[in-house]
Amino acid sequence: MENKIQQLRQAAAEAIESATKNLKELDNVRVQFLGKKGELTTLLRGMSQLSAEDRPRIGKIVNEARAEIEKLLAEKNSELKAKELQNKLAAEKIDVTLPGRKIHQGHLHPLTLTLNRVKDIFIQMGYTVEEGPEVETDYFNFEALNLPKDHPARDMQDSFYITEEILLRTQTSPVQARTMQKNNSNAPIRMIAPGRVYRRDDYDASHSPMFTQVEGLVIDEKITFADLKGTLDFFCKKIFGDSAQIRLRPSFFPFTEPSTEVDVSCVMCKGEDEHCKVCHGSGWLEILGAGMVHPKVLEMSGYDSSKVSGFAFGLGIERIAMLTYGVDDMRLFFDNDIRFLEQF
Ligand code: FA5
Ligand code: MG
Repeated sequence: MENKIQQLRQAAAEAIESATKNLKELDNVRVQFLGKKGELTTLLRGMSQLSAEDRPRIGKIVNEARAEIEKLLAEKNSELKAKELQNKLAAEKIDVTLPGRKIHQGHLHPLTLTLNRVKDIFIQMGYTVEEGPEVETDYFNFEALNLPKDHPARDMQDSFYITEEILLRTQTSPVQARTMQKNNSNAPIRMIAPGRVYRRDDYDASHSPMFTQVEGLVIDEKITFADLKGTLDFFCKKIFGDSAQIRLRPSFFPFTEPSTEVDVSCVMCKGEDEHCKVCHGSGWLEILGAGMVHPKVLEMSGYDSSKVSGFAFGLGIERIAMLTYGVDDMRLFFDNDIRFLEQF
């Protein structure tokens, strides 16, 4: 019996020593000797046949053998585990010096970028930002702006009608009347109203049937044309740079008197290139319409034109984006060709 135990101990030690492959192999060795049907376990079961005086002595030897085998197993186990970790680390090694895969990041559309710049400039001057609906009533889009039904000036803006009284707004000017009407009478106003507008215009290099305007409206006591001119000059220098100049041309809008259209000096060619695609050699590009708010428009929305006066303007964001980015065809902004959009 003692010899048998000694042999088993020896065999187990050798088996453990030669289990160098992996943990599974080592576990097989454990089962072979210490498992339920393992060799040492079977030997232990045979102890019942021993005489009473042999039992404690043999029992002690078996337990020692068991402890010895368990210790060897544990040592081998941690040795193999360390080896496996080593192999895993080697196999999964990452070369941190390799260049990374580029993640494609989106960004704002050039028209949104331009609109944000315009908004920032006016917000810095203390303007509030107002909103109005794109589906507008005939009343706000035309009548409240001194354009009664059948007024010939309605032809200036060919409109998309939904019903006789409802249309897609042709301009952001209806937000002027909306803002005045929601205010207390004669309360000062300094607001801009950005948004989309719709016209039955051709789709060409400088026109689109859907485009973006920013309306401006300032009302207070003693507001003059000089305030309008100074504001627009400041705005243009902020957006196009200090060398930008503006030119005011007399014009007509039913809701302003006097009215003006404003051109900005061509930042692309400074008027020096006959073939300039942006200004066509004229050196100027129209970017907005403006004027002193017509007394009738003030009165219709509850303001007293003998106490307050104001100026208003409406600028085209697409035209400003064309000038600032040197884009010679407005349609590029709407085509959504990624090769174009990626450049901003
Ligand atoms: C108006 O829409 C007036 N409501 C502007 C105004 C507001 C005048 C307040 C007085 C007081 P106009 O139709 O000219 O005006 O358009 C204003 C600007 O919108 C133009 O200067 C131009 O920059 C832009 N614009 C006009 N039509 C188009 C179009 N089809 N596509 C792109 N931009 C356009
Ligand atoms: Mg115009």
